[in-house]
Formats: sequence, C-alpha cells, structure tokens
Amino acid sequence: MAKDSLTVTDNRTGKTYEFPIENGTIRALDLRQMKAAPDDFGLMTYNPAFTNTASCKSRITFIDGDKGILNYRGYPIEQLAEHSTYLETAYLILHGELPSKAEYGEWTHNITHHTMVHENIKELMVGFRYDAHPMGMLGSTVAALSTFYPEAKNVRDADCRRDQIFRLMAKITTLAAFAYRHSQGLPYAYPDNDLSYCGNFLQMMFKRGGRYEVSPVLERALEVLFILHADHEQNCSTSAMRGVGSSEADPYSATAAAIAALYGPLHGGANEMVLRMLREIGSIERIPAFIEEVKTSGGDVRLMGFGHRVYKNFDPRATIIKKMAEQVFQVTGRNPLLDMALELERIALSDEYFIKRKLYPNVDFYSGLIYQAMGFPVDMFPVLFAIPRVSGWLAQWDEMLDDKDQKIARPRQVYLGAGRRDYVSLERR
Ligand code: ACO
Repeated sequence: MAKDSLTVTDNRTGKTYEFPIENGTIRALDLRQMKAAPDDFGLMTYNPAFTNTASCKSRITFIDGDKGILNYRGYPIEQLAEHSTYLETAYLILHGELPSKAEYGEWTHNITHHTMVHENIKELMVGFRYDAHPMGMLGSTVAALSTFYPEAKNVRDADCRRDQIFRLMAKITTLAAFAYRHSQGLPYAYPDNDLSYCGNFLQMMFKRGGRYEVSPVLERALEVLFILHADHEQNCSTSAMRGVGSSEADPYSATAAAIAALYGPLHGGANEMVLRMLREIGSIERIPAFIEEVKTSGGDVRLMGFGHRVYKNFDPRATIIKKMAEQVFQVTGRNPLLDMALELERIALSDEYFIKRKLYPNVDFYSGLIYQAMGFPVDMFPVLFAIPRVSGWLAQWDEMLDDKDQKIARPRQVYLGAGRRDYVSLERR
C-alpha cells in the first residue's frame, strides 16, 4: 500500500526514521531527530539560494515552470491580460476573489483617493542629486513613508493593514512619477483623480504644459504590463518582503527592502540591462560575436533577459508581451532595437548552449523595448516593475501575517570558519 511518508536510514547510526509527506514536502525540522551522537545538533539541509525549499504555504500565485503556466488565484495570466485591468487583478491577488461591481468601485475609489503625498515627501525628494537613479529615490521615499504613518507598525490590526495597502498601492505611482520628473528637472505633476490608475500615472509622468491626452493603446499596454508583473510567488524581492515583514516591521520598511532586492540586475534590473546590452552590441552584424562572448565567458557575460530560475520552457509573460509590442509600435513607431532583439532571440533559440541550459526569453527581454517606445527612459524600467509588484508584495506580506506557521525568518548556517582561538594583542601580531 502506498503511504504518504518517507523512510530514511541514517548510515551513521543504522537508525531508520519515517517522516510524513504533506503537499509534496517533508518538514525540514523533522530531520533534526536524526543525530549521529546524543549531543549532536541534528541533521539540517544545506540549500543555498533556497532552490529546493518551500518557505511558506501560499494561495496567491501558481507557477509551473516546465509547462509555462502562471495563474493568479487560479486565473491564467493570459485571461487576466486579455480581460482584466491592473486594479481588478490587484484586488484579486490581495483578496483571493475577483471583485463584484460594488467592491471594484469602492476599491478603485479608495486607491484613487490616496494618490496624494504629503508635501514634505516632495521636499524630501527635491533633496536628491539632480541625476539620482529613480529606483534609488523610490526605495528611499517608500522607506520614508513609514515616518509619515507611524501607526503602520500595528501590523496585527487588520483595519490598519488595509489602510496601508490603499496608501502604498496609490502613492507608489506618485512617487515613481515624481522620481522621474526630478531626474529630468521637471516640476512634479500632481495626481488627477478623474483618470484610471495607469492613465493618471502616464499624465504624472509625461504632462508638460496644458492637458495631457492619454493614448488608449498605451494606457491599455501599461495595464497589461502591470498585470503581468503583479506577482510571481517566492522570488527574491518577495522573499525580502516576507523576510523583513516577518520581524513585524511596518509595510513601508518591508516594501523598501523588496524594492532594494528588485533593483538588482539579476532581478528587476534585468530589463534595463537588456536595453544597455542591445545598445552595446550596436548592430545586427555584431550579434554572433556577442553570443560567442556569452558562451565562452564561463557565466561572466550573460544574455540579459534570458533564463529564469523557474521557467525552463518558456515564460508565458514574454509571449504576451511580444505580441503586444506590435500594437504599441503602431502608435509609437517601431523601436529600432527590436530587430536586434528578434535576431538575438532567433540565434539564441537555435544555439546548443542555450538549448542545453533551457534558456529562453523572460519577461524582461521585450518589456524594455515597449517601455522605451512609450517614452520611458531606461532608468525607469525597474521602477515600472516595482509599481505593480507592490500588489504582490502586499498580498504575500498580508498572507504571511495571518499564517500561524510563520515566525521571524531566521535561516541556519553551516559554520566552516576558525575554531576557538585566543585574542593576540596588536603589538604581537
Ligand atoms: N546568459 C548566458 N548564460 C546563462 C544565462 C544567461 N542569461 N542564464 C543562465 N546562464 C547559464 C549559466 O552560466 C549556467 O551555465 P553553466 O551550467 O555552464 O554554469 C546555467 O545557465 C544555469 O544558470 P544559473 O545561474 O545557475 O541559473 P539560475 O536559475 O540561478 O539563474 C537567472 C536564473 C538569474 C535569471 C539567470 O538566468 C540570469 O542571470 N539571467 C539574466 C538576467 C535576467 O534576465 N534576469 C531576469 C530574470 S526574470 C525576473 O527577475 C523578472
């Protein structure tokens, strides 16, 4: 009879243990029963970068990397990208169900009416250097928000938590646009509550004098890009959000940590790196030499926008974005870097090096080209990733706080350093 358990023999002692298997996992703590001697600490697992460790149970996002499946709360990303709006998807991610008409209206109203930021926040942003990277500005000002809402530290109070969720969801667009305008030396543009979430963000970014007409095609493209980036289960930045949040830090501080994690070029900084890479390659003729460099560099030079820790077949978000690029380019004109990207993709997908390692274009490979065509400077790309990911981070943070299994995050280590030794004074060293 098949049993949901694992039987292991510890060859150091000859003892056999049986561990229950639940949801395809064993509890790592069960292994601690296995001791080589009575004073032994007990067996641990060694898992750098948590590649095979489930750190939580979650009901938010499902990914099957081999099949290229991404679902939010059970709904396939393709259906949400086609039919939903970003705010509706964010509601779904945060609440578990799609909203009724009334719930959607109230949700949209609450977020729209929290878009203003305190004037002191604006003054704080003015203090950044004229050429400050907008992602650095965003992380710092989100952290600063915790000083404006000290009550946010009441993370065990559900009503208080809900208020911070409205605030963060709303103010992130305002801070992002202010950061951009600061780096351009432009006066900050205030939110317009009559516009949609994405429409308002576009006007705060690009409004010059007079009225800003939001292009429905670009507004919809941004909705779709935001939907695609809203959550991606336990990635680096979400783990940072959960890790910092597990100490019961307020959500602004935890979100600032998540933004810092997203800033790295191996995570949310990748779409910026794709554009820089395309510019550096410079022309289609130089692509074969670049591919050769990637292959012989021993991992030092990477084809940015390729590869994924989880997707080993295709990234469903990349497929949606590639299709959408054509619609956007009809309005904005074709991005000249697109031909280079298409050629890079064609060569890489037929090259043994990439095939063997299951390296495919990820979400970042084409998103940067669209953002650039829409008028966003490269520095803003990670910021454009952070805005929608706030909904995912908050949903994961909220779920963690209600999860009775969770405690402050605190991994173990394998210590390989020096044994005990006595201090030697400076003169004798
Ligand atoms: N270009 C060239 N080689 C690569 C690439 C790449 N983009 N990605 C992985 N490899 C190679 C590695 O050198 C390694 O080769 P080896 O087995 O000969 O040593 C092998 O493929 C496995 O790579 P890992 O680094 O072990 O894969 P991992 O799952 O840890 O990394 C990651 C995933 C970080 C995304 C990686 O593929 C990468 O650096 N890609 C480029 C950056 C990027 O596009 N990041 C965006 C990710 S999506 C997102 O965050 C939204």
